[in-house]
Amino acid sequence: MNLSKAQITELLQNEENEANLLRRADEVRHQFVGDEVHLRGLIEFSNICRNNCQYCGLQRNNKKLARYHMSEEELLHTAKQAIDMGFKTLVLQSGEDMYYSQQRMCKIIEGIKKYDVALTLSIGERDYAEYKAFREAGADRYLMRIETTDKDLYNRLDPGMSWQHRHECLLMIKELGYELGSGIMVGLPNQSVESIAEDLLYLKEIGVDMAGIGPFIPHPQTPLKNAGGNNLHLSLRTMAIMRLLLEDINIPATTAMESLHPQGRIMALKGGANVVMPNVTEGEYRRLYELYPGKACVDDTPLHCRTCIGAKIAAIGRKVGQGYGGHKNKMPQRIKQ
Ligand code: 5AD
Ligand code: FES
Repeated sequence: MNLSKAQITELLQNEENEANLLRRADEVRHQFVGDEVHLRGLIEFSNICRNNCQYCGLQRNNKKLARYHMSEEELLHTAKQAIDMGFKTLVLQSGEDMYYSQQRMCKIIEGIKKYDVALTLSIGERDYAEYKAFREAGADRYLMRIETTDKDLYNRLDPGMSWQHRHECLLMIKELGYELGSGIMVGLPNQSVESIAEDLLYLKEIGVDMAGIGPFIPHPQTPLKNAGGNNLHLSLRTMAIMRLLLEDINIPATTAMESLHPQGRIMALKGGANVVMPNVTEGEYRRLYELYPGKACVDDTPLHCRTCIGAKIAAIGRKVGQGYGGHKNKMPQRIKQ
């Protein structure tokens, strides 16, 4: 449906109406994408990053964080384990780690796409030729949040980066035929509800296939350590409005929501979300991929999380999707055999 900026702002501000809003989003979710919850196995394969985003625990100035990246063999092994566990989509996520050159990434993508699995990349800003090569190697989807559409705020929070460039990357990704996932953080310092309303209209305008919305959680090793945030309820309202605006897209119940409340993802699944991205990264690496403190599930194993989330989904009368779970149930389209 269409909502004006003023209507969205009102819904964002109206705390008393939150239960109604989430219920409406849940109905729209049920009507347009059904009761299946699609799982994506998330592999956090490198916490090395060339950027210095002020909110992010992986920012390069955080010298206290032990850094890792998985070897190609480790990454493929992790992917295979997740596939054997039944995941039909894998998400490869990392900081902007240039160790993974175009050639290395393509090899990894080809290795994983030998299996029957949809593949999402979430590795940040690259150039057109790289996005094209990854797509040709078999990547189906790409995930990169715009974070905020307040350009001044973005440029302040992501020094050395440019909002315009990130926006252009999203357009390139879309043009190359990836399913496009984007999204924002809610509760950034100096982010107004009007600005969040504009974010939602932006995501509608560029036509995302997936929208991830999570609360900003201040990280003690960053300049924003005292910057507020932690706003679960505003994030849930934002997510619910996203569902009203884009009825049939994929919307994850985000880990950041779960990190603020033990039932955060369930609250999200009951308020418009239809995707969960359990972490399938193994061992020590889970703890080191510390975007924000208190991240849910860091001490658990992939199998534990898969079982846990399966039980939670069943407990609210939903079922785990058995397909690839693309937007509008599209099968991933190979562009090269
Ligand atoms: N709190 C919440 N989310 C964060 N992200 C990065 N840092 C934080 C934080 N401190 C989110 C960003 C990024 C995604 C991978 O994690 O939106 O795109
Ligand atoms: Fe990780 Fe429940 S999903 S412990």
